[in-house]
Amino acid sequence: MTNQKIIASSILAADFSNLSQQIRYTELGGADWIHCDIMDGKFVPNLTFGPLVVEAVKRITRLPIDVHLMIKNPNSLIEEFIKAGANFITVHQEEEIHLHRTLNRIKELGAKTGVALNPSTPVDTLNNVLEMIDLVLIMSVNPGFGGQKFITNSVKKIKELSALRKEYGYNFLIEVDGGVYKGNIKEISDAGCNVFVAGSSIFRNDNITAATIELKNLVIS
Ligand code: DX5
Ligand code: ZN
Repeated sequence: MTNQKIIASSILAADFSNLSQQIRYTELGGADWIHCDIMDGKFVPNLTFGPLVVEAVKRITRLPIDVHLMIKNPNSLIEEFIKAGANFITVHQEEEIHLHRTLNRIKELGAKTGVALNPSTPVDTLNNVLEMIDLVLIMSVNPGFGGQKFITNSVKKIKELSALRKEYGYNFLIEVDGGVYKGNIKEISDAGCNVFVAGSSIFRNDNITAATIELKNLVIS
């Protein structure tokens, strides 16, 4: 489990007028998950989409749906996103005061639990809940927009998590999100990362399938 390597294609960078074809192209390249970025214009300064689109994506693909909630009061919408087909629900540590309760609720509703850390949030803020978490998402850009530059300190945080996982025998996956591309994905993988969210480096390409294959080959080789 903890040595899995998963490409999670982030549709934030996709052409929404052609979403089903774009998802098909990345699937053909071996994408493992579809990453959906939910932004509310409050927790982050950008606005995207809600459960309606997640539900449509669910009908387009059989791949697991990885929902990243960048919204205020995520607890109020968790059930809607799970009903829409989310397999993983990731909430931000910075926004969820009652993280323990929310993680239990995500589990009860039948989804896998994820917690995201902004670039300025330390890994040790999760110490007391790590055993309840299926996925820790390290934000490697400040959340809100695609196409930003990878913050290199994120590699240190991945190594820290990877060491904790080893020391205590936890089973969570480590996910990285933001600025991942062919030039840094191998180093991130070597640090212990399992799930690589990639938006621009997959969908802002003439050949989405080839771009997906290239990233995947770099982490499974
Ligand atoms: C940013 C989002 C990311 C975004 C990454 O707030 O959480 O998932 O899609 O985009 P790229 O891969 O373009 O940095
Ligand atoms: Zn994301």
